[in-house]
Amino acid sequence: MGGRTPLVVLTFSLAVLSIELGISHGCRETERKALIDFKRGLHDPSNRISSWVGEDCCAWEGVACSNISGHVIKLDLRNKRCKWAVRGDITPSLRSLQQLSHLDLSGNYFTHKPIPKFLGAFRRLTYLNLSGAGFVGRVPDQLGNLSTLQHLDLSYNCYWVDEGDGFFCLYLENTRWISMLTSLRHLNMNWVNLTNASNWLQDLNVLPRVQEIELSSCDLGTFPRSLSHINFTFLITLDLRGNDINSTILDWVFNITSLEFLYLGGNDLHGFFPDSVTKLTSLRALDLSGSVFQDGFMQVAPISNLCQLQILYLSQVPINDLSGSFPDWLGNIKNLKSLDLSFNSLYGSVPASIGNLSLLQHLYLDSNDLNGTISKGIGQLKSLVDLYLKSNSLSLSEDDLANLSNLKYLDISLFMDFCQIGPTPQFPKWLRTQTTLRDLDLSSAGIKDMFFDRLPSSLEYLDLRNNSLSGHLPPKILNMMPRLEYLDLSNNKITETIPNWLPSGLQYLDLSDNKITGNLSLRITNIMSSLQWFDLSTNNMSGEIPFSYCQLRNLEGLQLSENNLSGEVPNCWKNSSNLLLLDLSSNKLVGGVPDSLCNLQTLESLHLSHNNLSGPIPHCLKSCTELSTLDLGHNNFIGNIPTWIGESLLSLKTLSLRSNAFNGRIPQLSSLSSLRILDLSNNNLSGTIPQSFGNFSALRSTPMYHCCYFNDGRVYEDDMWLFIKGSEFKYTTSQLSIDALIDLSNNNLSGNIPEELGNLHGLRSLNLSRNYLIGQIPRSIDGMKQLEVLDLSRNNLSVQFLPVWRP
Ligand SMILES: *[C@@H]1O[C@H](CO)[C@@H](O)[C@H](O)[C@H]1NC(C)=O
Ligand SMILES: *[C@@H]1O[C@H](CO)[C@@H](O)[C@H](O)[C@H]1NC(C)=O
Ligand SMILES: *[C@@H]1O[C@H](CO)[C@@H](O)[C@H](O)[C@H]1NC(C)=O
Ligand SMILES: *[C@@H]1O[C@H](CO)[C@@H](O)[C@H](O)[C@H]1NC(C)=O
Ligand SMILES: *[C@@H]1O[C@H](CO)[C@@H](O)[C@H](O)[C@H]1NC(C)=O
Ligand SMILES: *[C@@H]1O[C@H](CO)[C@@H](O)[C@H](O)[C@H]1NC(C)=O
Ligand SMILES: *[C@@H]1O[C@H](CO)[C@@H](O)[C@H](O)[C@H]1NC(C)=O
Ligand SMILES: *[C@@H]1O[C@H](CO)[C@@H](O)[C@H](O)[C@H]1NC(C)=O
Ligand SMILES: *[C@@H]1O[C@H](CO)[C@@H](O)[C@H](O)[C@H]1NC(C)=O
Ligand SMILES: *[C@@H]1O[C@H](CO)[C@@H](O)[C@H](O)[C@H]1NC(C)=O
Ligand SMILES: *[C@@H]1O[C@H](CO)[C@@H](O)[C@H](O)[C@H]1NC(C)=O
Ligand SMILES: *[C@@H]1O[C@H](CO)[C@@H](O)[C@H](O)[C@H]1NC(C)=O
Repeated sequence: MGGRTPLVVLTFSLAVLSIELGISHGCRETERKALIDFKRGLHDPSNRISSWVGEDCCAWEGVACSNISGHVIKLDLRNKRCKWAVRGDITPSLRSLQQLSHLDLSGNYFTHKPIPKFLGAFRRLTYLNLSGAGFVGRVPDQLGNLSTLQHLDLSYNCYWVDEGDGFFCLYLENTRWISMLTSLRHLNMNWVNLTNASNWLQDLNVLPRVQEIELSSCDLGTFPRSLSHINFTFLITLDLRGNDINSTILDWVFNITSLEFLYLGGNDLHGFFPDSVTKLTSLRALDLSGSVFQDGFMQVAPISNLCQLQILYLSQVPINDLSGSFPDWLGNIKNLKSLDLSFNSLYGSVPASIGNLSLLQHLYLDSNDLNGTISKGIGQLKSLVDLYLKSNSLSLSEDDLANLSNLKYLDISLFMDFCQIGPTPQFPKWLRTQTTLRDLDLSSAGIKDMFFDRLPSSLEYLDLRNNSLSGHLPPKILNMMPRLEYLDLSNNKITETIPNWLPSGLQYLDLSDNKITGNLSLRITNIMSSLQWFDLSTNNMSGEIPFSYCQLRNLEGLQLSENNLSGEVPNCWKNSSNLLLLDLSSNKLVGGVPDSLCNLQTLESLHLSHNNLSGPIPHCLKSCTELSTLDLGHNNFIGNIPTWIGESLLSLKTLSLRSNAFNGRIPQLSSLSSLRILDLSNNNLSGTIPQSFGNFSALRSTPMYHCCYFNDGRVYEDDMWLFIKGSEFKYTTSQLSIDALIDLSNNNLSGNIPEELGNLHGLRSLNLSRNYLIGQIPRSIDGMKQLEVLDLSRNNLSVQFLPVWRP
């Protein structure tokens, strides 16, 4: 009998355990519904929250529940890459997540709405991150109820707002509510407008635990003058950069003796620099860039007593005549790792004492008037990793930098005197001894020779853009840099054919803007899986495009424009390709658009303009739904403009079919909500201008900056030729993204100009000339405030109203 008791107890506790597990598996219905409702309010183009289906919301991406209560306690939708943002509105139903302690919506896009007031009801919140999430407007005071909040990040919410026609940010009217966040440790309000919150310092001074205060670019404008007592016992970081603070440096800053990082650059600090800086014995970083001190560098000499100092930024500190020579005392700050003295008018030579900074890794002396030879001092800085010397008049002798064996980044571009080595500028011999140098920027350095054998074999990044390198690329020489990933030789005078051997691992190769001749044959075996970007535009290449280019399976960009390439567009493209950009424009290509091109499902930009291509636009192109630029102008394409363009290619921003032989009516295109450039001119189009043209939503307001991204998030350029104001210009990505035009000129269009076109308030150029349009010019055109070019000539329009000319 007695033996049974433990069993009963065991059964009982198992029951309790399973009740607990029962709660923690599968989330609470109200919270699940709240999340579903939240999801419904969001557009999620990259399916980041597609896992939000089914019963157990605790298992959904970004959601975490308490194991005890089963409540949702964490919602983390942080977006790390531009293209993965969810966008939309925050639905009030989110309020049901009462137990939330961690909320991170940073990097998404809540279309210029204010931060919802109800966030102040999340009483258990310890972490709130709304950085760069598309919010503008007044930050609600209700956030002051979050008394357990430890981390608050509202930084980088500034946007062009179309409706308001301007730049809008988050702003605070006052900071009183922040003083109620008594648990706060980390406050980041970079770029939040605090121009009216003049009491910010007093309000923050009552936060007992605060460790980091980041208020850069907040338009603070002034430094509160008097403060009876400094409270900040634990403050480690104070960042007030870029606030245009016009003030003397006030003593109280130097009473915060816990400070380790003090950033005051980008202000108008002036006057005497107090000796009391020496009280900051823990200081590791000091940024005073942009300040003007009474006696220049002599004044700041007390800094040399800060023996923990590792980072010192004194860039753009105007020097008066007393102290324009290089400050000798810098050699005393033995722990210095990073020193920025760029953009000062320091003259003379660099003193040998700088060689005492044996830990120095980053040295920025660019844009000064230093002259003479590079001192023995710099040559002794064995730890140096980055060295920026450009825009000085220093000269290098052969072995000056030979002992800097850790150098990884060397920028001596625009370093004119570098020619002292020989009769013509050439690569200095000591470069060869730099066995660790990874990045070398010698762009715009006036180099003429091609002695690649003098370059270190350790290079991964080599930028030789805009020099006068001529002759041919010796094939074996590239072999000497086996680790090369990035090679930019654009804008030189290279004439010979491209080497058919390239280092395996090469990812980026830019040979554009040279005089390279020959055909495109490329032995691809060793770069097949590495090459991501290949730019050969603006050269004299001839022959056909070989099939081997289709096999570069990681290629994201192929630019072959402005050459003499002939034959057809190769028909070998595979759907395993990663191509984002294909530019074959301005060549002599013939034939049609091959069907296999439609396999390029990731393609964002297709340029085939200025060739002799013919035939209709293939129907299968419908499946390239990522296309944002389709540029087929100046060819001999025929047939109707397919209706599926307006139905399937919903990402289109730029559509140019200019100067072809398209006929028939213009289809409905107004679903293309991102379209900003539409050029259908010089065709045989007939019928009327669709009324729905007034609905292009991207043209109804001023533009948002958009860009193009590599698959790893870096930005690439996608240039294009456009015909505006009577001539053709090359537009860069950033210009394209702000331009807005419709050109339907030189067709057979008839009927009236739809009144609705006047809704396109963001349009900058409208050309309807040389058609058979009749009726009156609609009055609504007067509302198109951005319009710079309006051409309605050579139609049969009657003029009862003339738009007001706006310069
Ligand atoms: C909840 O469970 C996870 C693992 O399932 C564990 O790592 C975590 O510590 C638990 N939390 C609590 C509060 O018990
Ligand atoms: C907030 O998120 C951003 C990334 O979106 C991150 O850089 C930042 O450090 C986060 N802030 C805090 C306080 O963790
Ligand atoms: C904040 O607290 C005050 C009083 O404690 C209350 O009146 C107010 O409604 C609260 N606001 C929110 C958003 O919870
Ligand atoms: C901050 O607001 C003021 C006044 O509203 C404005 O003049 C200023 O340009 C704003 N600053 C920023 C950075 O938006
Ligand atoms: C600051 O206050 C002025 C005057 O009250 C107001 O016009 C302006 O919009 C406010 N700006 C900000 C950013 O709070
Ligand atoms: C210092 O902090 C305490 C409590 O946080 C506060 O009561 C006091 O007013 C603060 N002192 C000043 C000068 O702001
Ligand atoms: C700064 O410290 C000095 C003494 O070192 C003291 O006299 C002064 O009142 C302090 N200032 C503030 C604002 O705390
Ligand atoms: C700073 O303020 C003073 C007067 O307070 C003024 O004379 C000076 O021009 C201002 N400096 C700047 C850069 O705005
Ligand atoms: C630098 O070190 C040398 C010894 O290597 C010493 O003679 C010189 O005084 C030091 N200079 C400075 C400025 O510390
Ligand atoms: C450096 O410039 C100064 C004037 O700024 C001049 O006197 C001196 O001769 C120059 N030194 C050298 C080596 O060019
Ligand atoms: C480089 O190091 C060697 C050996 O330590 C030394 O003799 C030479 O002077 C150094 N060169 C420079 C420019 O410091
Ligand atoms: C090219 O280099 C020259 C100096 O050699 C410079 O003046 C020019 O600005 C550079 N051009 C570009 C586009 O960088």
